[in-house]
Amino acid sequence: SDKEDEVAYTVRAQKGETEIFDGTKTKTLGYNGDFLGPVLRFNKGDKVKIKTINDLDEETTFHWHGLEVPGEADGGPHESLKPGEEKVIEFEVTQEASTLWFHPHPDGETAEQVYNGLAGLIYIEDNNSEDLGLPDKYGENDIPLIFQDKTFDDEKQLNYSAAMNEDGTVGDTSLINGTLNPKLTVNQEKVRLRLLNGSNARNYTFKLNTGDSFEQIATDGGMLNEPEKLNEITLTPSERAEIVIDFSQLDAEDELALINDEDGSTLLPFEVSDQKGEDSDLPDKMNDFSITDEEKNLPVAKKVELYGMMDKVTINGKKFDPDRIDFTQEQGDTEVWEIYNKPDEMGGMVHPFHIHGAQYKVLSRDGEEPPKNEQGWKDTISVEPDETVKVAVQFKEKGVYMFHCHNLEHEDNGMMGQVKVE
Ligand code: C2O
Ligand code: CU
Ligand code: CU
Repeated sequence: SDKEDEVAYTVRAQKGETEIFDGTKTKTLGYNGDFLGPVLRFNKGDKVKIKTINDLDEETTFHWHGLEVPGEADGGPHESLKPGEEKVIEFEVTQEASTLWFHPHPDGETAEQVYNGLAGLIYIEDNNSEDLGLPDKYGENDIPLIFQDKTFDDEKQLNYSAAMNEDGTVGDTSLINGTLNPKLTVNQEKVRLRLLNGSNARNYTFKLNTGDSFEQIATDGGMLNEPEKLNEITLTPSERAEIVIDFSQLDAEDELALINDEDGSTLLPFEVSDQKGEDSDLPDKMNDFSITDEEKNLPVAKKVELYGMMDKVTINGKKFDPDRIDFTQEQGDTEVWEIYNKPDEMGGMVHPFHIHGAQYKVLSRDGEEPPKNEQGWKDTISVEPDETVKVAVQFKEKGVYMFHCHNLEHEDNGMMGQVKVE
């Protein structure tokens, strides 16, 4: 069975200074450090205790995005900590191996705090993931990559309002793991990249500059059943994917790079060393994710209509009200949520739809089976204008959970609701 350890962490939100540009200090925020955060590691079965500390000058919360935890540990806008306050939360890890993340969630202030650097990763491992023989040497052939875009002012300080666009902040400068112009040196082997779109509003279509394929092995919340060969993958804000690129036949001459096909920009050039690395094949079967006939035939229980742009965004015609419960659902019940993105006069835009406290199954996109690489656990899903996406949602724990658009400016502008699980 999976290990049942007691794991204790302290996570402190704090102010810092980071040398993003040579010779200049940029004011940033971070968890347990100046900028971004550590990787928190859990095993399925762990009993986790986290002491959260707010060392900022403003209120914040600690939200564990994708974790199936009780509502009171989830760090939504109701769990706000004032400057100097601490709170200990506890939960048990009951879900499977995956790459999740954590970030603040204070009402109306989420976007700017994430923009200024509050974001970290969570890795869950389980018996299955450890037996699969996947690349798992941290920093060597198993690489965390947080993609963000920022705008800096003349003093090279982060400028949130300057990045503000009609539909959220879109920065002019790409940072990966907080680093400007990064480069990744790899050995001649298969390398696993854990991609997080940690941007507030920008979409990324990850692609290799050569057009060569790679394999996707995991979605937001778990391993795919089989590696899925792709030439590109689009991630909207907060979506994750684990991909594996095969460098075993390449060398220093090969100028491979990860690009964002949305604008053709180079994100991450690779430098292949002359070192031979591990030589292993990806497993054919990685998981046993399935959607039952019963789940497929469930009636629609909840309808969510996403609408609007800029500050006109709404869900079911309403803006977030912390005192209003929009839906209720029984703990342990599986319900179908139908999410529709209603176009406006301008045509509308894609909204990444996220539900707290649950990993869900995508049943259909406009009535069709979802693509193979969405046949796995998801907690955030892109919904295109005029598209209808059905998902099967089950909450393992009780409490009040947010559901919202993960364009963080849309979220702060009220594109959020609450489901009470009893
Ligand atoms: Cu990344 Cu409300 O969550
Ligand atoms: Cu979340
Ligand atoms: Cu949105």
